[in-house]
Amino acid sequence: SANSYGEGQLGAGGELHQAAGASHPEMTTNQGLPLSDNQNSLRANARGPSLLEDFVLREKITHFDHERIPERVVHARGTGVHGYFELTKSLKKYTRARILSEVGEKTPVFVRISTVAGGAGSVDTPRDVRGFAVKFYTREGNWDLVGNNIPVFFIQDAIKFPDLIHAVKMEPDRGFPQSATGHDTFWDYMSQTPEAMHMVMWIMSDRTLPRSLRMIEAFGIHSFRLVTEGGDSVFVKFHWRPKLGLQSTLWDEAVKIAGADQDFHRRDMFDAIAAGNFPEWELAVQIFTAQEAEQFPFDHLDATKLIPEELVPLQVIGRMVLDRWPDNFFAETEQVAFCPSHIVPGIDFSNDPLLQGRLFSYLDTQLSRLGSANFHQIPVNAPKCPFANQQRDGHMQMAQPAGRVAYDPNTLSDAAPRETPTTGFRSATATETGDKGRIRAASFADHYSQARQFYRSQTGHEQAHIASALVFELSKVEQPHVRQAMVGHLRHIDEDLAQRVAAGLAMTPMPAAPPAAATVKDMEPSPALQIIGKM
Ligand code: HEM
Repeated sequence: SANSYGEGQLGAGGELHQAAGASHPEMTTNQGLPLSDNQNSLRANARGPSLLEDFVLREKITHFDHERIPERVVHARGTGVHGYFELTKSLKKYTRARILSEVGEKTPVFVRISTVAGGAGSVDTPRDVRGFAVKFYTREGNWDLVGNNIPVFFIQDAIKFPDLIHAVKMEPDRGFPQSATGHDTFWDYMSQTPEAMHMVMWIMSDRTLPRSLRMIEAFGIHSFRLVTEGGDSVFVKFHWRPKLGLQSTLWDEAVKIAGADQDFHRRDMFDAIAAGNFPEWELAVQIFTAQEAEQFPFDHLDATKLIPEELVPLQVIGRMVLDRWPDNFFAETEQVAFCPSHIVPGIDFSNDPLLQGRLFSYLDTQLSRLGSANFHQIPVNAPKCPFANQQRDGHMQMAQPAGRVAYDPNTLSDAAPRETPTTGFRSATATETGDKGRIRAASFADHYSQARQFYRSQTGHEQAHIASALVFELSKVEQPHVRQAMVGHLRHIDEDLAQRVAAGLAMTPMPAAPPAAATVKDMEPSPALQIIGKM
């Protein structure tokens, strides 16, 4: 009988049973066996022991026991949304990629915005970098632009990434803190990593306290290449700009929100989509040639540097709208697998050594995170264009190709997939010369000039927020020598900032600045540097 508790019948022990019928399908085991009772296990008698024979109980509990998969080693907590990208300005002159040359073309996307350091169940509002990963399901295959909300990164070489993350994540003996900053190991590592100083300025700014995921900027960070039909290429940097503008909370607000609503950002995104307030971003590019790059006062292959917009202006080429919440969080947001090596014909990589390492890491980690070489077949990961090759079998294989032929080349099949010599992906042509070795280019040696440029570009209250964030964070560091080393680095960036932080930490005398590998320059925007901007 129907009542306010739902439809159902009480069993002998007073437990509620709801029967199939009307719009409710029959409940079955995974083998399709209809279940008569989903509330009672099989017992020797009504009050007797449960029986090993109960395959229904065993199947249900076994499946439950295996519901969890490993969380991402970084960026474990994320919010995913579907949407579309629409090109508004063609880059046909520079690239054969259809997604960047056919104006009006709407390409479906899946976007996952994440924190970096916390686990999957951590809060939404720590001071942390935000990941911004976009999967474009193009007609030429999936293109993943796996970026962050800050245009530079901590390190210049992927070989340093495991150390960076071990320093950022909870400390191995005590299992805390969960947040990205505010602890000894993080600041110890920062103090020993001069190349991180530009990023340190950004993470101590309000950028790492977003008010909403709908209000963050994002960046592809590395230089990529755009490649024409003939194999010529230019360099490109990608920028996402939110229609709602860039907005942040204050630190005090972020702390209160963390206590009041751990899901603040995820809920905000869900509510906005449900209300039809679809968040939107512009996609903008900076395009420059190799010859132009040689004139930059920094190396564009160094991910700790950005290209000032005064030097290479942004050109808006498209818009992205997020308009559909996933049907199932696990199936989509959790199982989605982004990878910087997913590119399409007309896009290629640069030699940025951080990017080069990333090209390996993502597929490798996903093999263990998702547990099978066939995770590309999961609907959220599968291309929406046809895809075919002679790769076979493996755990969780869902495809069932027919016929004898599982190799290439062959003469025994009329339906086997074959190469596309003219339209298929080809790498951009590039000449490499020089000595092999574990050598970092001298052009990567300037670690402070852009940190200074960023700090000095901030307004008075923004500078005050950076100073007070540094005082707050470093005041939690127990070891005086780590605090001193950080203040020493700040002296290269801005003496006034260093003095403010030292005063806030009651530090006397002022520590010496560490040796710097390059002269620190005042990189104020100079009209003489304006060399680019032609489309
Ligand atoms: C995950 C961005 C550097 C390894 C992610 C995610 C983002 C991201 C946005 C989350 C993707 C998602 O939502 O599923 C970046 C950016 C970097 C950077 C912008 C620097 C510019 C690196 C480096 C490595 C690395 C240098 C390793 C050498 C990983 C791994 C994951 C990950 C292993 C987890 C992937 C997964 O489990 O699916 N990264 N990352 N990242 N990143 Fe990075």
